Amino acid sequence: MTLADTDRALATMRAVSQDRPGAPDVLKVIETTRPQPGWGEILVRVHAAGVNPADWKTRERGAFPIGAKPPFILGFDVSGVVEEIGEGVTLFRPGDKVFGMPRFPHLAGAYAEYVAAPARHFAPHPQGVDHVQAAALPLASLTAWQALVDTARVRPGQRVLIHAAAGGVGHLAVQIAKARGAHVIGTAGAAKHDLLRSLGADELIDYRTRDFAEVVRDVDVVIDSIAGPYWARSLRTLRPGGTLISLLPLDDTFPHEEAEAAGVRTMFMLVEPDQAGLREISALVEDGRLRVIADAVFPLEEAAAAHTLGETGHSTGKIVLTVTP
Ligand SMILES: NC(=O)c1ccc[n+]([C@@H]2O[C@H](COP(=O)([O-])OP(=O)(O)OC[C@H]3O[C@@H](n4cnc5c(N)ncnc54)[C@H](OP(=O)(O)O)[C@@H]3O)[C@@H](O)[C@H]2O)c1
Repeated sequence: MTLADTDRALATMRAVSQDRPGAPDVLKVIETTRPQPGWGEILVRVHAAGVNPADWKTRERGAFPIGAKPPFILGFDVSGVVEEIGEGVTLFRPGDKVFGMPRFPHLAGAYAEYVAAPARHFAPHPQGVDHVQAAALPLASLTAWQALVDTARVRPGQRVLIHAAAGGVGHLAVQIAKARGAHVIGTAGAAKHDLLRSLGADELIDYRTRDFAEVVRDVDVVIDSIAGPYWARSLRTLRPGGTLISLLPLDDTFPHEEAEAAGVRTMFMLVEPDQAGLREISALVEDGRLRVIADAVFPLEEAAAAHTLGETGHSTGKIVLTVTP
């Protein structure tokens, strides 16, 4: 071991960790060992980390989504700068700005100053985007992209219904569906309709005052991030041959018989790390066709406050933590 190797092995970093499942106050700032990039991996100095519902579900249950048990460091979305490359990495060099959702659904540990993860789980930053915006993008935009484009193969003229259209996934799904030439219908509280119209939504339903299932018809694709009581009602909006993509697993309450009777395709989709998808997202951002809204930004030390806001279920766009200035 050289002196540089020893220094590296001893290097520490600031992170937010938890030693038990629980409420937001289990999140604590700690000093821990800095990871080192393995073969095929890059070490990224994290500037900002996106916050997602998967984070607070993992924090609270400690077992979502892959049975991980505390202590662990949360955070799936990373924006930062390559600090070091592992053996065999050819795509990136130290100093490159990258963003990604490495390792999902395994833990990436983005609430920390450094993350080491497979190089191909990252992509170069879109031009003109800062770290907060880049950290807001990966998990939510890849979910929207993989659902609408890879899975449903949305075509121009198709009618797409997006639930929770003002949320992290929803506001990006509205724009991606629009960029594919779809007629976009969204559910959101009335206060968010102007914003969603500015992002390209064609029709909006205030779910608090109207039942979307009574007013929306002949839909080709539903992206359902609410699930539960929305499943059966979403089925009623679909035309025969349409597709319902649930972003939550189809449990025992899923109305399989109604889906079969309606002649529609139904499935649960889980987002995956996807460099090609990130590059498509970047292209849309650079073309001005995709604008990520980072509505609430907190310093890393205030991760608990970020979770408390997210858990209301009524935040707009994305929540982001700033890690390194
Ligand atoms: N399967 C996957 O790969 C995958 C990937 C990403 C996310 N997800 C899941 O998808 C869900 C949404 O994620 P997200 O990041 O988009 O969440 P989010 O940003 O927390 O969603 C917040 C939005 O939901 C809206 N909302 C709340 N209740 C609603 C209702 N009954 N009808 C319509 N809109 C409603 C709110 O609008 P108002 O303020 O107007 O109420 C708010 O803007 C989470 O459960 C998450 O775990 C799954």
